[in-house]
Amino acid sequence: MKKKFKIANPKGKLGVLIPGIGGAVSTTFIAGVEAFKKNLGKPFGSLSQMGTIRLEKRTSKKSPLIKDLMPLADIEDLEFFGWDVYPENCYKAALKAGVLEESLIERLRDELESITPEKAVFNKRYATNLKGKNIKKEKNYFKLAQELIKDIKNFKNKKNIDRLVMIWCGSTEIFMTQTKVHKNIKSFEQGLKSNDKNISPSMIYAYAAIKCGAAYANGAPNLSVDIPALTELSLRNNIPIAGKDFKTGQTLMKTILAPGIKSRLLGLNGWFSTNILGNRDGEVLDNPKNFKTKEESKLNALQHIFQPELHPDLYGDFYHKVRINYYPPRGDQKESWDNIDIFGWLGYTMQIKVNFLCRDSILAAPIVLDLIIFMDLAQRAGMKGIQEWMSFYFKSPMHDETVYPEHDIFIQSIKLKNTLRFLAGEKTIDHLD
Ligand SMILES: NC(=O)c1ccc[n+]([C@@H]2O[C@H](COP(=O)([O-])OP(=O)(O)OC[C@H]3O[C@@H](n4cnc5c(N)ncnc54)[C@H](O)[C@@H]3O)[C@@H](O)[C@H]2O)c1
Repeated sequence: MKKKFKIANPKGKLGVLIPGIGGAVSTTFIAGVEAFKKNLGKPFGSLSQMGTIRLEKRTSKKSPLIKDLMPLADIEDLEFFGWDVYPENCYKAALKAGVLEESLIERLRDELESITPEKAVFNKRYATNLKGKNIKKEKNYFKLAQELIKDIKNFKNKKNIDRLVMIWCGSTEIFMTQTKVHKNIKSFEQGLKSNDKNISPSMIYAYAAIKCGAAYANGAPNLSVDIPALTELSLRNNIPIAGKDFKTGQTLMKTILAPGIKSRLLGLNGWFSTNILGNRDGEVLDNPKNFKTKEESKLNALQHIFQPELHPDLYGDFYHKVRINYYPPRGDQKESWDNIDIFGWLGYTMQIKVNFLCRDSILAAPIVLDLIIFMDLAQRAGMKGIQEWMSFYFKSPMHDETVYPEHDIFIQSIKLKNTLRFLAGEKTIDHLD
């Protein structure tokens, strides 16, 4: 008999907590969910809503929808709540973001207008290019965390919420590395009380989320929950966490192409990536300190996929460059160019050119939905700490310190689906028919 993992039923409402709720990704995501509820569109790109999963051998011909196999939360049960540095409600913010057509936003006006951001925990030091004034003022970071906890509890009581997931859709913070204050919960809480500058706002949100029993996913490349103090707290409080940096656009393409090149043992001399974008995200990234955080996140994928230490002749010396250029006329409609210099038989060189005209937030929105749905599933299944099976969605997957991060999108996809099969009490698939 199949042994099923014990997973609590998704009864009641799932509260979705979003720092950065007035941003392009958040408003595109929320408007999308409201549009699906009204049958105004379909959740293309979302595995939790449209993905299927093969079970058993191919001859069994069993490929149910993931949402039919697993006890996932229904999108009708999602309730949104969030914070932003800018006070505009989600209707105005969606219009400003300029991602979706105005005619669609008008049809969702009532739903979007009813969501207004709470005052944010924010400090200009971590994102200099933002000018919003919708900001909480308290004596120290610890008190700010308590204010966030109060906001979350009020929302939970007022809307009769059963479970919580927080997803960071706020701006990318400046580049930071781990320091003493991040070492454990005690040093972190002391740092909150003494306003330690190594504690950024996204860490304060993550701390508040874990304290309130909310699963936490980080859509930006900043450290946030990826510090020992908070991973320790997540284990202690039985909270699943995941991050960092939604895998969309150019990096998505990179982690689709690179595993193919490597699987055929074609060598790599260089990979040059550049792109233009003109949304607020691009404006924040125009500051070199914020760009550095994104650059680090984007650079890592190729090193881990090509494994130069195993294949020095093929990948021992490739040049990798990533550029992001803020170009306002383009808005959210990013354009990226990749030039890939590869070599084959006897070292003869070849080139691949990729020109992706994408829409950043259209690619990010289904990731936000899937992360919310799967992180809630993880929590109901009693999973805690870093959820590596969520690597599929991230540019810089959080991972246990004893292993390297998995960047290859095909391995990530197998890992995600095998985790679902395992949770459902089905056999994992190794493709050995
Ligand atoms: N769009 C994508 O494809 C994509 C991909 C990967 C990562 N990301 C990351 O996701 C995040 C959101 O992207 P976006 O395009 O929506 O950006 P955005 O600039 O439109 O939205 C970010 C929002 O966060 C708010 N904010 C900043 N600091 C805050 C704080 N401390 N508290 C509350 N609100 C705060 C800003 O005011 C803004 O409204 C960014 O960090 C971005 O780098 C986006």
